[in-house]
Amino acid sequence: MTHAHIPRRWYENAVFYQILVGVFNDTEGRGIGKLKGIAEKLDYLQWLGIDCLWLSPFYASPLRDDGYDIADYRAVHPDYGTMEDFEDLIAAVHARGMKLITDLALNHTSMDHHWFQESRKDPHGRYGDYYVWGDDPHRYPEIRIIFTDVETSNWSFDEVRGQYYFHRFYKEQPDLNYDNPDVHEEVLSLIDFWMDKGLDGFRLDAIPYLYERDGLGGESLPETLEFIEKLRAHMDKHYPDAFMVAEANQPPAETREYFGDGDRVHMVFNFPLMPRLYQAIATSQASPIVEIMPELLHLPAGAQWGNFLRNHDELTLEMVTEIERDLLYSAFLPDDSMRAHLGIARRLAPLMDNDRAKIELMFALMFGLPGAPFLYYGEELGMHDDSSLQDRDAVRTPMQWEPGPGAGFTTSDTPKRPIVGGEGISVAEQRHDPHSLLRFTRSLIAARKAHPELGIGNYEAIEVAEPALLAITRTLKVEDRVIASDPLSSAPLVCLYNFAPHPLAIPPQALANLSGIGRVEIGSVEAGTEIRSGDVIPAFGFFWLTAQ
Ligand code: GLC
Repeated sequence: MTHAHIPRRWYENAVFYQILVGVFNDTEGRGIGKLKGIAEKLDYLQWLGIDCLWLSPFYASPLRDDGYDIADYRAVHPDYGTMEDFEDLIAAVHARGMKLITDLALNHTSMDHHWFQESRKDPHGRYGDYYVWGDDPHRYPEIRIIFTDVETSNWSFDEVRGQYYFHRFYKEQPDLNYDNPDVHEEVLSLIDFWMDKGLDGFRLDAIPYLYERDGLGGESLPETLEFIEKLRAHMDKHYPDAFMVAEANQPPAETREYFGDGDRVHMVFNFPLMPRLYQAIATSQASPIVEIMPELLHLPAGAQWGNFLRNHDELTLEMVTEIERDLLYSAFLPDDSMRAHLGIARRLAPLMDNDRAKIELMFALMFGLPGAPFLYYGEELGMHDDSSLQDRDAVRTPMQWEPGPGAGFTTSDTPKRPIVGGEGISVAEQRHDPHSLLRFTRSLIAARKAHPELGIGNYEAIEVAEPALLAITRTLKVEDRVIASDPLSSAPLVCLYNFAPHPLAIPPQALANLSGIGRVEIGSVEAGTEIRSGDVIPAFGFFWLTAQ
């Protein structure tokens, strides 16, 4: 039976870029990034090849959790500008044919939110049941504590109400009560508020944790998945072009649950794959990736993974085994001050010992494995981090536009967070240097766009005898070969990745799908170079190869 072809959706092969508004570009000289500052940098982002921006929270907030503690979902934090600035930004982004998504923390609010303030004062009032209140701080013992280094319980006592309230994260972030249908209505209405401004979608922060049930761990409960279906139906009905990406840091099989039958979220961050990329680097073995891939293929139509290497959080190690975690700690955590919660608060470049080959290899994996890539601001420059800063602030320092004191981020002497700097690590220094990481990243994005099969095509691992070599064939799916007369649309692309710290001879099987000779699209040698079996792939090198 042939199925009707469902057309591809824009996000399936888009290149995303994550921005923390407060540290991206200050236009007022006050040391804090502005929404207006992002608008000023759209030229740069477009030049780089970015399709869609993701803004981390910029709403009214006491900033206890860098804005993931929202005090008013309908207000822009005055530090970052005004609602008009936000509307201007959407218009400017759209004028360039780019897209914009924002972050929504729906599991919890800030304590400062008026719902919580009312709830604690008046248990019988309109908001009395908006949060998860109780008299027993030992209820739900199965629910893990996420911010283990700060919180010792998921319950805190509220003097005003004389009861405990439940919180998955910091005690300043009380969990909303999703058993209350009014909470559903509030959430849908605030979504409409933002979507009606023309947003292209949003990230669902901490979405596995909406419900709690006795005797269960409180993650990915059927009720939570059902709520997501309700959200999706609402989106499909009112905003059919928009999309939602879920932050669901769960074991692989559970992570896939968030796609449902294509009736839950459109995209899920690829938490199952991410630690495997680091493991492959640490062990010089391709197997961590080869083994997970079959679990990640064959998604429902319109569903896609969001691939990432780093983001504003720690490199999370919550979902790996203890043995894997120890291995990753010993490879990537040289100093305990870099630990945050169960993970590692470092940026990509330092994690890779600032080794260009390793950084490029990781980028090539993120851009070359099935999914849509998410670049974290500054990674394209190889920005460093600052482990003297608390918690995850280590990886949230200002974007480096220029060399010098304010890094072109601000003219203020007191930036929101210290500028890390480093010679050669700025847009100005790298933009015109053909050998820079920035220019490499830009070429990689261009190569990726020339080969949509990297994001949405078939994936086939090639068996090779060399354990440090990952060899993969990618081809466009039949239904995507729109230009039937174009022979290239069915041609295979072969991707080779070397995890060994030394060069490797390419075994013949690796190039069999290219009849023994490939031409480098992009990789560790000049584009256009011919590669034959027996030729060498450099230490931590990669090639994306087409047929001659
Ligand atoms: C998500 C965010 C993280 C935040 C947490 C609580 O995990 O990525 O930064 O602290 O949710 O909102």
